[in-house]
Amino acid sequence: MTETQPAEAATKPWATQRKDNWWVEPALVAIGFSLFIIYATIRAFQNQYFEVDNYLSPFYSPKLVFDWWKFSPAILILWIPAGFRATCYYYRKAYYRAYFLDPPGCGVGHLGGENYTGETAFPLIFQNLHRYMLYFAILVLMFLWYDAINSFFLNGQFRVGVGSLIFLANVLLLSNYTFGCHVFRHLVGGKLDCFTCPNQKKPTAQYGLWKFVSKLNEHHMLWAWLSLFSVGIADGYTAYVVANHVNDTLLGPALPFLLVR
Ligand code: FES
Repeated sequence: MTETQPAEAATKPWATQRKDNWWVEPALVAIGFSLFIIYATIRAFQNQYFEVDNYLSPFYSPKLVFDWWKFSPAILILWIPAGFRATCYYYRKAYYRAYFLDPPGCGVGHLGGENYTGETAFPLIFQNLHRYMLYFAILVLMFLWYDAINSFFLNGQFRVGVGSLIFLANVLLLSNYTFGCHVFRHLVGGKLDCFTCPNQKKPTAQYGLWKFVSKLNEHHMLWAWLSLFSVGIADGYTAYVVANHVNDTLLGPALPFLLVR
């Protein structure tokens, strides 16, 4: 075997010298993404079981209702989280491997040809929209925080339901994901070559913020998956409460439809 053989082998589809189960991760990613996309699509078009008193499914928030729009309001809003995640640096890596096998893993031969132009030409150049999707995603996150806080109140009274806790956990995970974004990290710490240069006596507040965002960013993949699950759980739980008239109150007044029974 000559020294050039490993590199040559990796140019053939699936060829690799790896001995580990490298295919497990992309396979799990493909299954996980596919299940979520199918679920989210069904729920977005279902256009019911998404709201009850102080609970609003994150798939439908903010609820945009217009006379001229005859379809599910979720469609008007889901392009934002979908676009934000689809262009996320972590998700790109994950689905390039899981769906396009280009490459399926490190050191594994890829399926695509040799004409790869990266994200500098059509169609992948649109991935660069991620820096703008961040602003929309933060806006939606603000609404989800409002919904989470609102879920603790009913008719002006404080109330804690299982759903309130799920909504709170969901926005915390979404915040960790959104504010751990590589673009956000660049925004808070970018345009500087040095945080602690010689003429600067002590680290700035900007440096502290950058360090905090960097901590979130280190676990970006974890927050990406946990927040994906939590959004699905928050939506599914809302549908469950609405469809079954579930009393999930732990503390405070019960939901009105239970009081009139
Ligand atoms: Fe993942 Fe921005 S890089 S959300």
